[in-house]
Amino acid sequence: MKHTLLIALLITYNSFWFSNSIHAENDTRFTDDELIDTDGKPVNAHGAGVLYHKGVYYLFGEVKQGKTWLVPKQNWEDFRVPAGGVSCYSSTDLKHWKNRGVVLKPTTNNPDYDLDTSRVIERPKVIYNEHTKKFIMWMHIDKNDYSYSRGGVAISDKPFGPYKYLGSVKPNNQMLRDMTLFKDDDGKAYLIYSSENNNTMHICLLSSDYLTPTKAYTRILVNEGRESPAIFKNQGKYFLITSGCSGWSPNAASYAVADHVMGPWLERENPCKGVNAEVSFFSQGGFVLPVANKPGSFIFMGDRWNKTDLEKSTYLWLPVHIINDKIEIY
Ligand code: DGJ
Repeated sequence: MKHTLLIALLITYNSFWFSNSIHAENDTRFTDDELIDTDGKPVNAHGAGVLYHKGVYYLFGEVKQGKTWLVPKQNWEDFRVPAGGVSCYSSTDLKHWKNRGVVLKPTTNNPDYDLDTSRVIERPKVIYNEHTKKFIMWMHIDKNDYSYSRGGVAISDKPFGPYKYLGSVKPNNQMLRDMTLFKDDDGKAYLIYSSENNNTMHICLLSSDYLTPTKAYTRILVNEGRESPAIFKNQGKYFLITSGCSGWSPNAASYAVADHVMGPWLERENPCKGVNAEVSFFSQGGFVLPVANKPGSFIFMGDRWNKTDLEKSTYLWLPVHIINDKIEIY
């Protein structure tokens, strides 16, 4: 009798542990149309970033909606949809995403304004400023030919907006295209962006209110032609994953490692491993999400662009495997 009870307890414990470990693994993977909101609609948040605040994940991304068209007279695949503003979704478990609406709305009939639907609003990222108690959003603002290349900034009292647009800037008079935002453990924040016509990446320290780029910046991956920066920190080391430059078509990722956010950065190989690793599994990374309360657990968030029908673009989220100061994604 005692034995039967013990065996029953062991089976229950094992199946509980096993199902939980499977669950945890599944939490970090989304492919194609698996990312849906709690209304059953596909999540519309591309080039996204995530803010974790008071137990809630807030996902911000580009709204891709409307007919895709090809901008004429460009020597690259300049496919465009009307700029749809920035969407926000919230979740407590990374699985169920509630649509919080468009938190930075585009405007119409004002082509000279940064947020006009005729412009480009890409890769929004949000961080929280503990001193000012404000939520700060930075994003890439551009014109159809991507010649404007500026960073736009917006502010809100609440994570889910609405955000008030404050304007755009060229940090230190340098171009800013694909970008991300990083808040370090000491509260300092940095803008990281493709600059110098996408040839070289810059990392620029922001002012203490996170609203203005400072003069302190560094040039990294010089003349490497990298895009879509995604940075994270684990056990004191900084990791920066980037893509190559091939318009909306997938290419091989690579990563770099540093002991200080301003560098020096040691360049490494493609972190993606396995079949189709050379095209990042048909995706382009854009953010690495630290899973809350699980040190060492990170999710690589990529976009699967559908270049001729951009609103049909989907996602690929995969776990990042860390082996000392090396990473692998599969
Ligand atoms: C690649 C970038 O990573 C995207 O964000 C977007 O700007 C496209 N290029 C435009 O072709």
